[in-house]
Amino acid sequence: MTSSLQEVPVRAGDGYTVTIGPGLLDHCGELLIRSIALCRAAVITDSHVAPRYLDTVAQSLTRAGFTVSSFVFPAGESQKNLTTLSDALEFLAGQELTRSDCVVALGGGVVGDLCGFAAGCYLRGIRFVQLPTTLLAAVDSSVGGKTAVDLQAGKNLAGLFLQPSAVVCDTDCLKTLPPAELADGMAEAIKTAVLSGEALFSSLENGPLTGNPTETICRCIRHKAAVVEEDPFDNGVRRTLNLGHTAGHAIERCSNYTIHHGHAVAAGLAIIARASEALGLTEEPCADRICSALRRSGLPAGTEFSPAQLAQAALMDKKRRGGSIALVIPKKIGNCEMMTVPVEELESIFQAGWEDTACR
Ligand code: NAD
Ligand code: GLY
Repeated sequence: MTSSLQEVPVRAGDGYTVTIGPGLLDHCGELLIRSIALCRAAVITDSHVAPRYLDTVAQSLTRAGFTVSSFVFPAGESQKNLTTLSDALEFLAGQELTRSDCVVALGGGVVGDLCGFAAGCYLRGIRFVQLPTTLLAAVDSSVGGKTAVDLQAGKNLAGLFLQPSAVVCDTDCLKTLPPAELADGMAEAIKTAVLSGEALFSSLENGPLTGNPTETICRCIRHKAAVVEEDPFDNGVRRTLNLGHTAGHAIERCSNYTIHHGHAVAAGLAIIARASEALGLTEEPCADRICSALRRSGLPAGTEFSPAQLAQAALMDKKRRGGSIALVIPKKIGNCEMMTVPVEELESIFQAGWEDTACR
């Protein structure tokens, strides 16, 4: 196995390890057996990932002694719904998986979120592992145990918390990612860097990842792991990970989910960074640096949807509590704070940071 792999422990749930490095899918069986006794492994993936990586994963699991089955659903956010969840659950039942077996999520955030939910409700909960294949899943969604599907009323409205038993991130998968999907991951990485501090931010501000991405992914995961360990159920500090997401989710909603999550988060991050500065909430100006970093990674720093449209769409946000909503305010790179505002003020806050740029 490659000697360049890195490991990040996460002390949440039963505790697990995130293993990151090139060529790891070919070794996922031997890596997973460190945390999971041999069992039936149901691999769930999507139609873009399956032709590229399913055989490699199935062969590695089989070599290690797992009994492997697989379920493939059509790729795309529109498939992260109750119908696909139901199909996945019927598949697990059809394979007669028991409580000692496990689900293997092979794919991006859509696959990971859906598989985690399926594992969490099948037989009232069986184990699952994450094999992230997008940058977004590698730096964010594969760690922390948030699982969900979208409802017609909105995104991620049904879900549960279930920490994975292991995460194996093969950085070679990023080589087959289309540029727009790579950019999506950069948005969550830049968001993490704004929260984390100069060391990570300065390594990302000059554009897309080049060379070996292992170190960058590790740094993002270390930040997320520390936050999740302190607040696994999203009642406090974990909510800072929603930086850029209030406007971001509103943009996704206004576009009827045709704009990717990462692109929407990038625009949302730019809007809140500019608004914080314009409203005198920052300690050090950082909006220009954040917007430049986003643009250099091929991401939007604005949106065509108006502040009024965004404010209206944000009323459906999960982060809303009655008549108020918590925003994450970048004070400077490495220091962001929660600020609760009445929902009536959202439009003027968005207006303060708004820029008319196509968000695609
Ligand atoms: P995705 O899973 O839809 O993947 C993007 C596209 O890339 C898909 O078409 C997929 O088939 C394809 N793909 C995946 N890996 C590939 C590879 N290696 N080579 C070529 N194509 C590949 O989207 P995403 O951006 O990974 O994730 C977005 C989802 O993650 C959203 O639903 C969002 O809500 C969720 N999310 C969850 C969390 C969390 O903490 N659970 C955090 C952030 C985002
Ligand atoms: N992606 C935000 C969280 O995991 O809390």
